Amino acid sequence: MEKLNGKKVFVAGATGGIGSALVKLLKQSGADLFITGRNSQKLEELAQSLGLSDLQFAQADLTKADQVAALSQQVISNWGAPEILVNASGIGIIKSVDLLSVEEFTQTLNANLLAPFLLVKVFLPSMKEAKKGLIINIPGVLGKVPMAGAAAYSASKYGLLGMMQSIREELKRTEIRITNIFMGGVDSPFWDTIDLKVQKEKMIREEEAARSIWFLCQQPISGVVSEMVLQPFNHQAI
Ligand SMILES: NC(=O)c1ccc[n+]([C@@H]2O[C@H](COP(=O)([O-])OP(=O)(O)OC[C@H]3O[C@@H](n4cnc5c(N)ncnc54)[C@H](OP(=O)(O)O)[C@@H]3O)[C@@H](O)[C@H]2O)c1
Repeated sequence: MEKLNGKKVFVAGATGGIGSALVKLLKQSGADLFITGRNSQKLEELAQSLGLSDLQFAQADLTKADQVAALSQQVISNWGAPEILVNASGIGIIKSVDLLSVEEFTQTLNANLLAPFLLVKVFLPSMKEAKKGLIINIPGVLGKVPMAGAAAYSASKYGLLGMMQSIREELKRTEIRITNIFMGGVDSPFWDTIDLKVQKEKMIREEEAARSIWFLCQQPISGVVSEMVLQPFNHQAI
C-alpha cells in the first residue's frame, strides 16, 4: 500500500458530504491536505476542525476559469503541487427533460464537466513535471447507466468519463494514474435539493463512500485501479 503520511492530497468538494468525510480520513492518515469548496463558511469551519493552516484551504467556484487559475497559483506557490487530486465536487439536478431549463442543463455541465476539466488543466502540468500523480473522479453510476430525469446529470457524468478516459490515453507514457468511481446513491446533502422519492436508509453512508476513496489513494503504484464500482446492496444498477 502507498503511505498517505505526508502525501499532498488536494480535495475539491471538501465541504460536501463525501468530501468532508474523506478529508477527515485523510487527515487521520497523516496526509498533507489542501481543501477547497464553494461555501466559505463551511470551508473555514472544516479547515479549523482539521487543524489546517491558512495555506491549506481556499474558496473557489470551480466553474469559473479565472477562479480555478487563481486557486492553482495559490496552491502551487504556497502549498505545492498535488500528488493526488480528488474531485468530489458536483451538483445534481434531476428533472424530466420537459421541466429542465437550458440554464439548469448548462449549470450541470459546468459543475460536473467543465470544473473537472479546469482542475485537470491547471494541475496536470505540475504532475507531469513530477512524472507521477493520481486523479480520482466520481462519475457515479449515472455516468454509466441512464435514469429517467437524469438527462443533464448523466450528460455531464458520461462526459466526465469520456473526457477522463481520453486524457488517460494522453498520459500513457507518464506515471499519472486516473481512477473513476462508479458510486450508487450516497446519503449526503447532494439529495437535499432533488425532488425525488429516495430511500436514504438504503443508500451508502458518506463515511463508507469516503473510505473507498481513501482506499484508492493508497493503492500500490505497480498497478492502477482504473475503475471502481460501489453500490447500495439493495440497488445494484450495474
Ligand atoms: N451523493 C450521491 O448519491 C452520489 C452518487 C454518485 C456520485 N456522486 C458524486 O460525488 C460527488 C460528491 O457528491 P456529494 O454526495 O458529496 O455531494 P454534496 O454533499 O452535495 O457536495 C458537493 C460538493 O461540491 C461542491 N460544489 C458544487 N458546485 C461547486 C462549484 N461550482 N464550485 C466549487 N465547488 C462546488 C460543494 O461545495 P459547497 O458545499 O461548498 O457549496 C460540495 O463541496 C459529486 O460529483 C456527485 O455527483 C454522488
